[in-house]
Amino acid sequence: MDYFNYHDGQLLAEDVPVAELAEQFGTPLYVYSRATLERHFRAYDEPLKEQPHLICYAVKANSNLAVLSVLARLGAGFDIVSGGELERALAAGGDPARIVFSGVGKQPHEIRRALEVGIKCFNVESIPELERLDRVAEELGVRAPISLRVNPDVDPQTHPYISTGLKANKFGIAFDQAVEVYQHAASLNHLDIIGVDCHIGSQITSLPPFLDAMDRLLVLIDQLGEAGIQIHHLDLGGGLGVQYHDETPPLPADYVKAIRDRLANRSLELLMEPGRSIAANAGILVTRVEFLKPGEEKDFAIVDAAMNDLIRPALYDAWQNIIPVQPRDETPTRTYDIVGPICETGDFIGKHRELALAPGDLLAVRSAGAYGFVMSSNYNSRNRAAEVMVAGDRRYLVRQRETYEQQMAGEFPLPISG
Ligand code: LLP
Repeated sequence: MDYFNYHDGQLLAEDVPVAELAEQFGTPLYVYSRATLERHFRAYDEPLKEQPHLICYAVKANSNLAVLSVLARLGAGFDIVSGGELERALAAGGDPARIVFSGVGKQPHEIRRALEVGIKCFNVESIPELERLDRVAEELGVRAPISLRVNPDVDPQTHPYISTGLKANKFGIAFDQAVEVYQHAASLNHLDIIGVDCHIGSQITSLPPFLDAMDRLLVLIDQLGEAGIQIHHLDLGGGLGVQYHDETPPLPADYVKAIRDRLANRSLELLMEPGRSIAANAGILVTRVEFLKPGEEKDFAIVDAAMNDLIRPALYDAWQNIIPVQPRDETPTRTYDIVGPICETGDFIGKHRELALAPGDLLAVRSAGAYGFVMSSNYNSRNRAAEVMVAGDRRYLVRQRETYEQQMAGEFPLPISG
């Protein structure tokens, strides 16, 4: 459930008309709802009250400082994958002791900074990374808390680009080698083994893959116990899907309940790293129709948002709902491809959409709060969009629209006499 609803014939973000936001801040514009973010975070956090746990929001899904600060205030931890995400989490008031660091290619300077601020855990993905971590910790005279990201080899039945827990993926350590690699980690002097981690993929719409992965990791935790390696937390990663179209993903509460049942007789802290299921439906991308262009085979609505603003449709053939901000009653509907101004055939936001449109109309692309702005670029030298957060009847500009000057800052033409 989210807080983007129609009222008196127009779309509201919480209590604010989206058309007013477009007027005030221009388009394309990302609009986030604070109440929706809070609701989605609590959907994980509250059913876990009786269970030691930490919900580490996956910063990659939406790393705007306003989003991070809202979640930090609710006690969220953060799952980061880069030095940049670490700085953002800290700048937003995140508690370093609640940060876990994932990713296959952590660099020494990123590891150093994370050790200096005292993060909760490094989710380690390979033996060379273990050794790098041990060396950097030694240089700093500290011990690095670690989990190994274990690859449980379950098929999450999602898009191949976002499936990560299979043998064929670059992520994690093979399940069959996990005990051995843990023993190697235990032999290194500057590491503290504290957890077991996995992340099997994203936009997963049923529970069995998650629970199969969890069952495998619990077996591993028992094997490690027998080998004298005590595990304090289990990190199940992120991956719970959302409804973009007609998917029926499980609710976080159902997922969490199934997990809780399995942890009942164990003294393990549970960590989770949800991204999409917290942020996706807490955001929309608002765009204006520039032109309607009848084609020989179909009609196009050319809008001012493009694949540089929202790349999911072009990259994954993802379907996101596109709805009018002020629906027209009297205009007949037609079938449109909603396309951007970029010079690529793949520059579309949606295909075959039945809409009643006129030039100048505003459209809202739903479920754009996760993997939306964060994946945007300057392709075709387009400025990146502005971002706004709504809270009740208040509106906050949380990222200015980029200017051409900002876009070119840090770039230099070659000197004439070079
Ligand atoms: N933890 C790790 C280690 C991850 O790699 C990811 C996402 C998450 C947590 C959060 O997963 P979520 O709860 O959001 O599914 N750009 C793609 C999604 C890529 C996901 C990458 N990893 C998309 O737009 O669909």
